[in-house]
Amino acid sequence: MKVSIPKESSVEEQRVGATPKTVKRLIKQGFDVYVEKGAGEKANYSDQLYQEAGAEILSSPEETFAKGDIVLKVQPVSDAELLWMKKDQVMLSYLYPATNQELLKKIAAKGVNAIAMDAIPRISRAQKMDVLSSMANIAGYRSVIEGANHFGRFLNGQITAAGKVDPAKVLVIGAGVAGLAAIGAANSLGAIVRAFDTRKEVAEQIESMGASFLTVEIDEDGSTSSGYSKVMSKEFIEAEMKLFSEQAKEVDIIITTAQIPGREAPKLIMDYHVKAMKPGSVIVDLAASTGGNCTLTKNGEIYTTDNGVTIIGKLDQLPAQASQLYGNNLCHLLDDMGKNENFAIDMEDAIVSRAMVTYNGQVNWPPEPLPVSPQKPHQEESELSLVPKISEVERSKKKTQKLFTTLTIIGLLLYLLGRVAPAEFMQHFTVFVLSVFVGWQVIWNVSHSLHTPLMAVTNAISGIIIIGGLLLTTNDISNPLTIIAFVAILVASINIVGGFVVTHRMLKMFKK
Ligand code: NAI
Repeated sequence: MKVSIPKESSVEEQRVGATPKTVKRLIKQGFDVYVEKGAGEKANYSDQLYQEAGAEILSSPEETFAKGDIVLKVQPVSDAELLWMKKDQVMLSYLYPATNQELLKKIAAKGVNAIAMDAIPRISRAQKMDVLSSMANIAGYRSVIEGANHFGRFLNGQITAAGKVDPAKVLVIGAGVAGLAAIGAANSLGAIVRAFDTRKEVAEQIESMGASFLTVEIDEDGSTSSGYSKVMSKEFIEAEMKLFSEQAKEVDIIITTAQIPGREAPKLIMDYHVKAMKPGSVIVDLAASTGGNCTLTKNGEIYTTDNGVTIIGKLDQLPAQASQLYGNNLCHLLDDMGKNENFAIDMEDAIVSRAMVTYNGQVNWPPEPLPVSPQKPHQEESELSLVPKISEVERSKKKTQKLFTTLTIIGLLLYLLGRVAPAEFMQHFTVFVLSVFVGWQVIWNVSHSLHTPLMAVTNAISGIIIIGGLLLTTNDISNPLTIIAFVAILVASINIVGGFVVTHRMLKMFKK
């Protein structure tokens, strides 16, 4: 079977449907690969690299679109490109089916079977094909880099001989894939990160990435069974905006990623929020292409407002890496559909049936939804909540039984040992067992951040010195042995306590 990779006709698009690496992979999967001349130019992949990977270079778009049984693209096909396509070809690309009905009808009328890569359902099996996730991850990371670049100050706090520099404060609105990637990147650069999302289930993820989760007083949850957020009530959005009014005065960079699939992005940052921000602050609007989360965003532009706030409505796509990951996603899907001669469209398959938006001349949209959220549906909650409760009781019962059996066996062994071993041995042995237990308990309860291997060793040595000192201490304070023992106990105690105090102070220096 033949696979074609045309050059993207959109001027803004820097990515390409396959890289030399994914071409090799496609060939290994049994396909013959044809690449349009200059297809990978913007992503720094030359024709020669594609040729070396085993692809044949075609000189015109007409020829490339017509050649393949399968066409791999990034952006939706244009009317002109569609003219070059033929019945029964399979095309993989972004298609935005929820807002692109007219195009879907045209593709269906042409008889092309189109897979919308942005409609791949978000189930575990499809994670490797999920272009929304792989591209959102890149955008989230890049939003922090671009934001930091326009911010023009350190992101991390510093204590230098010349003075203290406070860390920058970053607010991330929307903690889906892009938002979480932005939190991770901003946190790793040393900023103080706060995040907000309508879905309460992401609170834990936000905190585990090192940001604090902001909340509003209204008790409404945006979670849905699709994994995406629902449209929130007017009251919720108002409460959210009030929260952002307070945050806008404080934070240096706002990164917005809030989206509702198939709709215009919710407007969350109004002109009065922008006015409240400090000069030099930055807004990076990742929802710019779907209308923007900020009312002042200009899609595809970066500009500075009169009060000195830079609003970023376009991001570098990191085309080389983005094409690689996008190409990998496509290869995974093709692999799943069947290698070479076995390649087939299985409309019974959960992934293909939902992403194949035109099939056999028909528009196949919207598809049956597939639940992907980790949250359980609300109405089943009360029934389901009984399950963990019952299993928890059983688990704790089993744990107690196990502990009881272990203690009985240990007791029995000690009794048998006591019957045969000399009394002196039993005395030492009991002290040994107790000290192992006490030592284990003491070390186990020390905070991990304070318990470095070096401290463990020095504290153990200091502990032995203290016990030795205590054993040698007598009532006679003029006894040189008592004096030496006292000094030893004092010095060892200072060592232990001082070690913890100094470590605490050092850790405090890194806390924001
Ligand atoms: P998205 O790009 O559609 O939206 C981004 C974020 O904006 C979401 O977290 C959404 O809750 C939030 N949002 C919407 N309206 C908002 C508002 N008014 N204020 C603040 N935030 C708002 O979502 P994305 O990143 O594509 O993923 C959403 C979820 O999908 C993930 O968190 C995950 O649970 C699920 N997912 C599942 C996958 C799977 O394979 N099982 C793969 C990827 C994502």
